[in-house]
Amino acid sequence: MKSLPYFSRGEVVRGFGRGSKELGIPTANFPDSVVEHLPGDISTGIYYGWACVGSGDVHKMVMSIGWNPYYKNTKKSMETHVIHTFKEDFYGQILSVVMVGYIRPERSYDSLDALIAAINHDIEEAKRNLDLPEHLKLKEDNFFRATASTSTTTSNKIMNGH
Ligand SMILES: Cc1cc2nc3c(=O)[nH]c(=O)nc-3n(C[C@H](O)[C@H](O)[C@H](O)COP(=O)(O)O)c2cc1C
Repeated sequence: MKSLPYFSRGEVVRGFGRGSKELGIPTANFPDSVVEHLPGDISTGIYYGWACVGSGDVHKMVMSIGWNPYYKNTKKSMETHVIHTFKEDFYGQILSVVMVGYIRPERSYDSLDALIAAINHDIEEAKRNLDLPEHLKLKEDNFFRATASTSTTTSNKIMNGH
């Protein structure tokens, strides 16, 4: 995928809320405007990369792009699980992400437990891959520092790409 690494930023909006309640794996959803801007060569599926909420620290993340076949969603979504324990949810805050690599296509599973196991497997793969030097350097990218130094008005603008 020639568009990787892909930088994206947007406000965190409410999804169906199943990530926290049913899966125990909270995800932050991007608004439609961000999903619609994805380049054509970024296929649906599971990705890993780096993420930062507001002007906070940069953490490892996994992201699911698509229609969640297990739940048969009718609207395409872009959902990020930040690999960090947050004290509170962050709806309405600005999430900045860089997608670095692709893990697998989305698929349906026979049970909720199987879906949860697959996501946990993705998380472990993301953690390992992101420790590679070529991926670690993206954690320090100016894209994340720009959020910290810009005013709220500027950081609220949705930016896609670089
Ligand atoms: C790393 C990761 C992998 C995922 N893989 C799949 C998948 O293979 N199939 C699927 O139907 N949903 C997958 N999901 C999406 C979850 O089903 C979704 O996050 C959950 O339904 C919560 O959505 P909600 O926040 O809109 O409630 C994945 C999510 C993440 C974070």
